[in-house]
Amino acid sequence: MSRYIKLVVCLVFFITTSVAYAFSSGPVAGRTGAPGELTCVDCHDSFELNRGPGRVDILDLPKTYSPGQKIKVRVSVQQNNQKAWGFQLTALDKQEKAVGQFVISDPVNTQLITDNNRFYVEHTKDGSKSNQPRSMEWTFDWIAPSSDQGPVTFYASGNAADSNGNSEGDFIYTTSAQIGAPSDPVISLSSPNGGEIIQGAKSFLIKWSSTNAISHDILIQLNGLTDIPKTIVSGLKGDVEEFLWLVPANIPTMRARIIVVAQGANSRADSDVSEKDFTILAGQQIPGPTITNIKVTNKKLVAEGSRFTNQTIVMVNSIAFNSAAKLNTTLTTLTQKGTATNGQTIGELIPAKSTVRLLFINPDGGVTEKFYTRP
Ligand code: HEC
Repeated sequence: MSRYIKLVVCLVFFITTSVAYAFSSGPVAGRTGAPGELTCVDCHDSFELNRGPGRVDILDLPKTYSPGQKIKVRVSVQQNNQKAWGFQLTALDKQEKAVGQFVISDPVNTQLITDNNRFYVEHTKDGSKSNQPRSMEWTFDWIAPSSDQGPVTFYASGNAADSNGNSEGDFIYTTSAQIGAPSDPVISLSSPNGGEIIQGAKSFLIKWSSTNAISHDILIQLNGLTDIPKTIVSGLKGDVEEFLWLVPANIPTMRARIIVVAQGANSRADSDVSEKDFTILAGQQIPGPTITNIKVTNKKLVAEGSRFTNQTIVMVNSIAFNSAAKLNTTLTTLTQKGTATNGQTIGELIPAKSTVRLLFINPDGGVTEKFYTRP
């Protein structure tokens, strides 16, 4: 549209509907940049969308909602040298339909409008805070739907304006943020969370807590947050919340991070990473037993190989046994019978078709790790 035509359109609009005041009191609906919507650039078109040095952020969303939960949402717009501020936000489900309910907790600075079956929170005239430098924040509440409606996406646009009283010279930004469904997995890594010094060639207990996980994966970055993660282990059970990691001897670094992933239903997943880097020292690997064959029945686990001792300990998925394993006279067959410390028999610990992680730990610290799938 040429500037001339736009001027005429604006004038006609102003004169015939006298909505000049409506602009000051808040933007028209449907300008958040959500699917099927325009943005404020529709009129504030001095600059391209998301091209300035500022930003809009949707803050304080938890990872998931619970049904009916009241969630305080904060929107901020910031940009140095700008002076007036505006925003508009909407919440949509996967079908791009309005979901949940907005509650205005600060009617001076925010208001609720609706159009096209969608609901919008946006700034008021007072909430534009003309002449406030650098940034502005608004808060309001969102009430989650009373049942699981799947993940919800919040879409927001923000205007970092120059306070000249018209739509020129203003920078427009958009963003979106997602809040997971009540049934979505959530995971939080507790150890290592940064700052630890870990000895190579020894074991280290990685710990986390999670909800709604069907399985877990653990990855490592050896060179800080931007490094490509490598898998340590995948497919750990959903109710597992720790993993005895045999730290390799030869990966010394001062910039390691662990990433834990919770895989949930419907391909939903969540992950968490060590908050800061941790250190891994080089270590000297002591060889553990050499395993050539493993046989499992409901009553016993038999490992064939070499470098067994009378004190070799067997662990299944980090669980030890109540009684010691027995070594045959040729020192080539180690047999573990009895129950585990969690009360389970070998058949219960290692059901048919299941894959377990076996550790054979020698008293000199040599450990051998084997993943075993029972036929
Ligand atoms: C249909 C055209 C139109 C759209 C779309 C529009 N605005 Fe505006 N806006 C105006 C006009 C015209 C003015 C100046 C007159 C007034 O304030 O009423 C203005 C003024 C403003 C100002 C004050 C600017 C200054 O420098 O003084 C802010 C802040 C603002 N709008 C925010 C927004 C936000 C945020 C959006 C998107 C969610 C938006 N506007 C979408 C037309 C629009």
